[in-house]
Amino acid sequence: MSIKTAKILAIETSCDETGIAVVTHESGQNPRVTAAKVSSQVDVHALTGGVIPEVAAREHTEIIMPLIKDVLAESRVQAADLDAMAVTVGPGLMPALAVGVAAAAALSYAWSKPIVPVHHLEGHIYSSLLEGEPEYPALALVVSGGHTLLINVPGPLIYQIIGTTRDDAAGEAFDKVARLLGLPYPGGPALSKLALDGNAKAFQFSRPMLTSGDFDFSFSGLKTDVLYTLRDLKAKQADFKPADVAASFQQAVVDVLVSKTKSAILKHQPKVLLVAGGVAANTELRRQITAMADSNSVEARISPLAMCGDNASMIGLVGAYAFEAGRRTSWQEIDARARVSIEEFSV
Ligand code: KG4
Ligand code: ZN
Repeated sequence: MSIKTAKILAIETSCDETGIAVVTHESGQNPRVTAAKVSSQVDVHALTGGVIPEVAAREHTEIIMPLIKDVLAESRVQAADLDAMAVTVGPGLMPALAVGVAAAAALSYAWSKPIVPVHHLEGHIYSSLLEGEPEYPALALVVSGGHTLLINVPGPLIYQIIGTTRDDAAGEAFDKVARLLGLPYPGGPALSKLALDGNAKAFQFSRPMLTSGDFDFSFSGLKTDVLYTLRDLKAKQADFKPADVAASFQQAVVDVLVSKTKSAILKHQPKVLLVAGGVAANTELRRQITAMADSNSVEARISPLAMCGDNASMIGLVGAYAFEAGRRTSWQEIDARARVSIEEFSV
């Protein structure tokens, strides 16, 4: 019996992390990450309090080829043995995406290997693929710095968006409120750390769209609510614990995410709930959404902590899966796309 193996070199440069990974998948087994590295630009962007796309692109350009060399050496996979390059084509910052796509195109030309184009959010959704394929139908909650989405995944690599944010993404709200509290960039991890010492019931912040009857989100009103509350407290020179503000804000976000996801579960009856994206690293979200899924008899698969932030392992995992399903393109055809819906990547 011949064992089919997919060996994929994966590249992720959609925002401020340069990620390179080698993923191998032998049929009948779970896929494996044979080597992976993420080079973060967070220190560079902390100086400006946010990501400047051209600065991100320059950083990616400097590091990408040495990183590919390192990861290939560590994986002990020869370039000649690779089946394909998987690369994030979008969505993301155009100058940053273009660096990864150009690298994949150059290697595809040099090595005569096909390219598997991957949507960034597919990577997040399938970042728990190391545990094996989820059962279907699945429901995915993607919560990152740029996206808040509920997506039905009725079968492998099929995506139907059922809810999205009307304004700020959940991670963006964390980052903006963190800034109001004087916390450093990126705000999400700093805010959730501060919240550990706070009382989540100290402030009753609004829970936007909680009863809107659909699966859409909105977080900009909540951010404004926190802004006005802080302004009033300061005007009155009132004594308050910033940790209480952090904990109460965090609970408001978690309440909305858990409640909308629960409504989607009740309506769409998935077997598995996939939770992914940078905000999936949030301890309270992980705890409360797992409890909700348990009480609704749905298996919750939350991204491993190391895979919540941007990385190439998740791009390689979905890349191997998509390669086996026949998805591939060439260096002549591949293009970065700053704004592209995951639905376009459905098989
Ligand atoms: O997925 P990701 O690394 O990048 C995007 O694709 O956007 O997500 C980054 C976002 C940032 O907004 C960051 O503040 C947030 O995830 N984040 C968190 C936590 N860790 C990262 N938000 C809340 N709690 C956390 N522990
Ligand atoms: Zn991301």
